[in-house]
Amino acid sequence: MNINTNYQNISDSYLFSTIAKKVNEFSKANPDKEIIKLGIGDVTLPLCKIVVKALKDASEEMGVKETFRGYGPEQGYDFLREKVQAYYKNHNVNLDIDEIFISDGAKSDLGNILDLFSTENTVLVPDPVYPVYVDTNTMAGRKIVYIDANAQNEFLPLPDESIKADIIYICSPNNPTGAVYNKEQLKKWVDYAIKNNAVILFDSAYECFITDKELPHSIYEIEGAKNCAIEFCSLSKMAGFTGTRCGYTIVPKDIENGLLNKMWLRRQTTKFNGVPYIIQRGAEAVFTLDGQKEIQENLNYYKENAKIISDTLKKHNIWHIGGKHSPYIWLKCPNNMTSWEFFDYLLENVQIVGTPGSGFGKNGEGYFRLTSFGSRENTIKACERLDKFLK
Ligand code: MLT
Repeated sequence: MNINTNYQNISDSYLFSTIAKKVNEFSKANPDKEIIKLGIGDVTLPLCKIVVKALKDASEEMGVKETFRGYGPEQGYDFLREKVQAYYKNHNVNLDIDEIFISDGAKSDLGNILDLFSTENTVLVPDPVYPVYVDTNTMAGRKIVYIDANAQNEFLPLPDESIKADIIYICSPNNPTGAVYNKEQLKKWVDYAIKNNAVILFDSAYECFITDKELPHSIYEIEGAKNCAIEFCSLSKMAGFTGTRCGYTIVPKDIENGLLNKMWLRRQTTKFNGVPYIIQRGAEAVFTLDGQKEIQENLNYYKENAKIISDTLKKHNIWHIGGKHSPYIWLKCPNNMTSWEFFDYLLENVQIVGTPGSGFGKNGEGYFRLTSFGSRENTIKACERLDKFLK
């Protein structure tokens, strides 16, 4: 056999695995030091009560002959797809049920969707960005071109007519910077994609953090987007499903006269057996009125954490953005330190773990990401340590 040599073109380990390894080594060498993790965007609040009840009820059903279920529809049960459809309707987006595909999360689908596209395609990726877009395309051997996101364009690059690409990634609110595109800016990307016969892969995993009514939650709020964009969303950050696993992908039938929708269904029915029934019942509960109320309380809690971090940085005149419509704070490393230097500096001196900006691309060098997903207690403790140390 021949191996896929494209794997030689990616780093040995995934960004967050590298960080976890470094932190474990530090922890082993310094067992008396208490480490506060504000690195990977993993939630800390438990699932909502209504979700837990739905999970329990569904488990009971599975233990009874009359209500037991085996294989479900690969693209998800209609009870959940209808809830997702109604959720989009709240943002004035009309979707057909068969445009909604339930998945085990955005990360898997962002990688899996590449099955539908030729490896001859050129991919356009903003830099810095969620590493999955680059790594998955590198594994497949696709050519990647980058567009710079930086302080000059407020980390929101707009299309450059001189760059030709077939697959375009957009993440808004952005991971890692927390920057959010407005409707006019997204319209520019939609127009560019249509003009270039390109597809936009729109990652909306953080849409639930948007509070400004004018900002778009979905790319389908933009005219023309249904002709050129596939959207990925997840309950991970919205409802604390990082360990429970559920998300959804929208493949509109208007793209390529329905061909991509058909191909995705074919792909999923062949390679995926669907999200477990129990989990889908839990996800359904997220979209009920009570579920939405409960998750909003959790999102507000994380937002308050973001404010606590931001206030501490402001006090020390550390440049930063994010945190308002996103769980991430994107800051400039003090004293011109590189991202990894600042990572080591914080770990060694105050035992705070963040994510080095350079792990998200070359334009992330000199920046650093902190998450607001920690517990309140740990967020306050981390800020107190920072406050003392940065004096
Ligand atoms: C992150 O920290 O960037 C995210 O948690 C990664 C993910 O959602 O896979």
